[in-house]
Amino acid sequence: MDSPDIAILGTGAHAPAKILTNHELARTVETTDEWIVTRTGIRERRIAGKNETTSLMAAAAGRAALADAGIEAAQVDLIIVATLTPDVPMPATACLVQHLLGVPARAACFDLNAACSGFLYALDTAWALLGSGRYRHALVIGAEKLSTIVDWTDRSTCVLFGDGAGAVVLGPARGTAKILGMRLYAEGAHAGLLGVPRGPRSYIQMKGREIFKIAVREMEDAAREILEQHGLAATSIACVVPHQANLRIIESLAQYLGLPLERFVVNLDRYGNTSAASIPLALDEARRAGRVRPGDTTLFVAFGAGLTYGSALVRW
Ligand code: ACO
Repeated sequence: MDSPDIAILGTGAHAPAKILTNHELARTVETTDEWIVTRTGIRERRIAGKNETTSLMAAAAGRAALADAGIEAAQVDLIIVATLTPDVPMPATACLVQHLLGVPARAACFDLNAACSGFLYALDTAWALLGSGRYRHALVIGAEKLSTIVDWTDRSTCVLFGDGAGAVVLGPARGTAKILGMRLYAEGAHAGLLGVPRGPRSYIQMKGREIFKIAVREMEDAAREILEQHGLAATSIACVVPHQANLRIIESLAQYLGLPLERFVVNLDRYGNTSAASIPLALDEARRAGRVRPGDTTLFVAFGAGLTYGSALVRW
């Protein structure tokens, strides 16, 4: 569906204050800063406090995005929170965020889980709903408290993940920041590669090496297809905001797309993989650092458990 009149009106982010460095982790599991940096690019991650819930982080990011957009909570009529770590199975985190922000009762609020592609799935859903004309202003939030589903004794996964939240406000375009297009995909045949199995050990489990290879291919496919659809060469993309899983995955993607790494927003060195929060967190940082200029075209690209993947193009 084509909705050329819907734009990103503002962005916001929230990261817990507590920093957990690789050196600190190396005191509790058998690893080293050198191994983690070389294999992943991650140096530290944020860890939410006991009472710092996904909904609180999501609301903080949402509040910042509303302020950035100059939109009042009363104007919001749709909230979608992408998360795989909701506070509770029900009610939806989005309803808790609605209450925290004082968004009126006529708003539709729900959560969506597409793991690390969750933010793009939520963005596409909101874009379509706003494009239908039945909603006007949406808060699209990616928020995760992954520290609660990480096995802190498993060195092959615990070094990768962190907590945080990022948000965007979508609404009628004011002439800039239009969403040009989006593509979503899923390959359920690979569902067994990454997940949180039910049972006494309900933690993230994954086959890292297999995911690595598939992730690069999926992100390249998603990027190429959307560029082709819009008749754009990869070199016309000023800035790529990729899912922040592993620097080597981003480097491979840059190489396959024939783009210099400098065009990619990378903040995983400071946050690790924050799943659905990673793209909006990186986007907010990029905007505030002046890396997104009027007229630029930005590519978002993600992959995650499912396996899900997707891409989006925004013209600022
Ligand atoms: N410190 C030290 N050694 C380690 C650590 C660690 N933290 N973790 C694993 N090792 C060891 C392994 O035991 C193995 O030892 P062995 O050779 O004696 O068996 C060795 O290091 C190499 O392990 P590999 O798994 O082959 O290492 P690899 O280079 O593939 O890197 C990694 C592992 C970082 C997990 C990589 O495969 C990766 O990033 N994969 C993608 C994972 C990913 O992005 N997941 C997120 C998905 S997004 C979502 O939806 C949540």
